[in-house]
Amino acid sequence: MVGKLWGGRFKSGTDKIVDNFNASIHFDKRLYKEDIEGNMAYCRGLAKQGIISEGDAATILNALKDICGEIEGGDFAFDETLEDIHTHIEKALIEKIGPLGETIHAGRSRNDQIALDTRLYVKNSAIKIINLIRDFQLSLIGLAEKNQDLIMPGYTHLQRAQPVLLAHHLLAYYEMLKRDTERYEEALRRTNVLPLGSAALAGTTFNIDREFLSRELKLENLTANSMDAVSDRDYVLEFIFASALLMMHLSRLCEELIIWSTQEFGFIEISDAFATGSSIMPQKKNPDIPELIRGKTGRVYGNLISLLTTMKGLPLTYNKDMQEDKEPLFDTVDTVEKSVTIFSRLLEEIDFKRERLIEATEKGYLVATDLADYLVSKGMTFRKAHHLVGDMILSAKKKKKELHQLDLSEMIRFSTLIEGDVYGWLDPMSCIERRNIEGGTGPEMVKKALSKAKEELRS
Ligand code: ARG
Repeated sequence: MVGKLWGGRFKSGTDKIVDNFNASIHFDKRLYKEDIEGNMAYCRGLAKQGIISEGDAATILNALKDICGEIEGGDFAFDETLEDIHTHIEKALIEKIGPLGETIHAGRSRNDQIALDTRLYVKNSAIKIINLIRDFQLSLIGLAEKNQDLIMPGYTHLQRAQPVLLAHHLLAYYEMLKRDTERYEEALRRTNVLPLGSAALAGTTFNIDREFLSRELKLENLTANSMDAVSDRDYVLEFIFASALLMMHLSRLCEELIIWSTQEFGFIEISDAFATGSSIMPQKKNPDIPELIRGKTGRVYGNLISLLTTMKGLPLTYNKDMQEDKEPLFDTVDTVEKSVTIFSRLLEEIDFKRERLIEATEKGYLVATDLADYLVSKGMTFRKAHHLVGDMILSAKKKKKELHQLDLSEMIRFSTLIEGDVYGWLDPMSCIERRNIEGGTGPEMVKKALSKAKEELRS
């Protein structure tokens, strides 16, 4: 059969509808660089082992370079009857240099070839995303430093709980993203492995130097079992999982920004450049960007579930089902790269509303725990103090007062342990200052955390 690499045992051509359904070229052309890189290394490997001559290798390498240039210059014709990127590049090679181009596939299968291409692609993408996360963390730290003395309510159950430093709140996300980076790095360790030499499934009969190939391709290990090598997509799944978790973290911060930008909260204003309006309501300024990032998180979760499901019923070794790994992978890369990039920019332009944050910190009995701690410092048990402060809150509420607005005479009615120093104690900033414990919101600790974060990002 003309055109097909595998046409030999076929008497008639494939139906047009089959060519279309079977083809992956419309998405896997995205792997052209990795495929050419793999081809070049493999070609050098064949020459090193004397399977092809050095002169022939040089001709092949030159032709591959030209093909790369043609693809990048838009001068390359893609054709779905040629199925995938591997076939396209091999065919182009044969067209350019004749039968010599037919030598490159000795000892190799598209099964270990696609395994190599996706590994290289996941590797490059993970490195790129790790760098984008770093930029994002720098924006977070910049925002925290710009607002270092700002206090705000910390929440549990979305109810005002205790005063915290805004920087402490922001640095919580620094920690989440630090774990995300670690997860990508961990996934990279298992991605940087060379499958070449596995051929279709059983290993090649050619004397291929796998160590040489892995050095050429800057991979760190060799796959240990050829059957596992051609049927493993764990590294793609781990990459998508790391991405799903990263998106979840971004989405949680988006949710907070959306809430904080409401009139009800009024804690922040998103800059005009990163907000949008309404086609009917002239007063509106909508937080579309955080909403979209929150929304896109669902796509990445979907990609993870999609590929997990594709893989779950597959017998060893390669099955065509596995071609379905690419679109979820590519979509994940696009979504994560775009989301992290735009989010870093948006962060840099957030304006925190100092007055509103202070006002919110002073209302809602956020210092109640500290009042109980005060009583404990004067000798009361914590449980008793908790109960007593509860009573005080009920009484203060009736008078429409906050705790610090009660007169000393009103306070003493609850406990004679309370003295004039209670007012200083209940100042939100002093509540924060008392929490100078490792990992707490105390200003000393937050300062330390900020410089530790900057140090980590430098290294
Ligand atoms: N396009 C295929 C994929 O992405 C490449 C491997 C094809 N191998 C095969 N034996 N048909 O999975």
